[in-house]
Amino acid sequence: MTTASWFDSFPERRGTDSEKWAHVPENVIPMFVADMDFRSPQCVIDALRERAEHGMYGYSMVPGSFYDAFAAWEERVHGCHVAREEILLSAGVITGLQWSMKALTPEKGVLIFHPSYPPFMSVPENLGKPLFSIEMEARDGAWTVDFDAFEKIAAGGEVDAFILCNPHNPTGRVWSREELTRMLSICHAHGITVYSDEIHGDIIMPGEEFVSVLSLPEELSGEAVVLTAPSKTFNLPGLQTSCIVVRSSEKRQKIAALMRKNHIPGPTFMGITAATAAYREGEEWMREMNRYVSGNFDLMTEFFARKLPQVSFIRPQATYLAWLDFRRTGLNADELDRRLVQAGVQLGKGTNFGKKAGEGYMRLTAACPRRLLSEALERIRTAL
Ligand SMILES: Cc1ncc(COP(=O)(O)O)c(C=O)c1O
Repeated sequence: MTTASWFDSFPERRGTDSEKWAHVPENVIPMFVADMDFRSPQCVIDALRERAEHGMYGYSMVPGSFYDAFAAWEERVHGCHVAREEILLSAGVITGLQWSMKALTPEKGVLIFHPSYPPFMSVPENLGKPLFSIEMEARDGAWTVDFDAFEKIAAGGEVDAFILCNPHNPTGRVWSREELTRMLSICHAHGITVYSDEIHGDIIMPGEEFVSVLSLPEELSGEAVVLTAPSKTFNLPGLQTSCIVVRSSEKRQKIAALMRKNHIPGPTFMGITAATAAYREGEEWMREMNRYVSGNFDLMTEFFARKLPQVSFIRPQATYLAWLDFRRTGLNADELDRRLVQAGVQLGKGTNFGKKAGEGYMRLTAACPRRLLSEALERIRTAL
């Protein structure tokens, strides 16, 4: 049984080539990369060890057991039926997104929401596609979007792709079934392909409900491209394994053909081994991890209210990311970053998520042992 103590323990990550920990000086706590400072579930560690012991690491195929484990997870955890033939594989979600867009919607612009996970801006740019965006607004304690603006851009004829972040990074917003139905219906009416990035879809705070685009009626989900992975859920991003679910066989074949033609590598057998074990046996670990992260958000809420009221955040419904509002400090992005690093904590610079939408904001990765988080919060207070 996984208990909170699993998440309290903190093996040293410096000296392990961790992208997050290698880039900051010894005295700085890195909280800018979306990767957890938690060990992956024991079932994953055991499966990798057993596979490594075999000593044979030749070219490998993806076994049916992986597809079965993924489909069973989707059914059990999210109530979505995914047929094996609907699943394509990719090393990373962003690789999958880029090649899917290149295959299906090469002509017009791309709609995204701001603030935005940075690759949602660079992928269209790489493909030479103009970017259209809608700024999310904080209203009555929740992040929302203006559906009139959405409808207007969709009807304008200049966009053929919409990248949806479901749940949303960096605000942690879970989209309701009603909102998703509205977004996808508008896109359907105007011939816009929806790319739903659901990589954070398992990291759902207790009491919240995640709705996958795959659970919407066939006429809406049938034309969407849904990208997901076990990498955020079980802290496996270094193992490079993700899934692209496409119900339309015409669309799926186009994506598969283009990826094949360009020799785009898929997951490695170690990634498949880890993902299969996690999808089969990692559910209890995931639920405990979500409870622990929610406890971290409790700590942050209390800390900012009592000790640092200049900083606030809307409590995320999903993800382990907190989108912190520093605007009351009056400091610009560079100055905020400089002061925080000087005080020994590095957060994700808000302006990387959109120059306007991110000004005065910072993103904090809260998937870490509570004592590390407490220390980081104290350092934020010192910085200000
Ligand atoms: C919304 C979202 N999509 C994709 C990724 C990256 O996925 P991958 O490493 O599989 O490309 C991240 C990582 O932070 C993310 O937050």
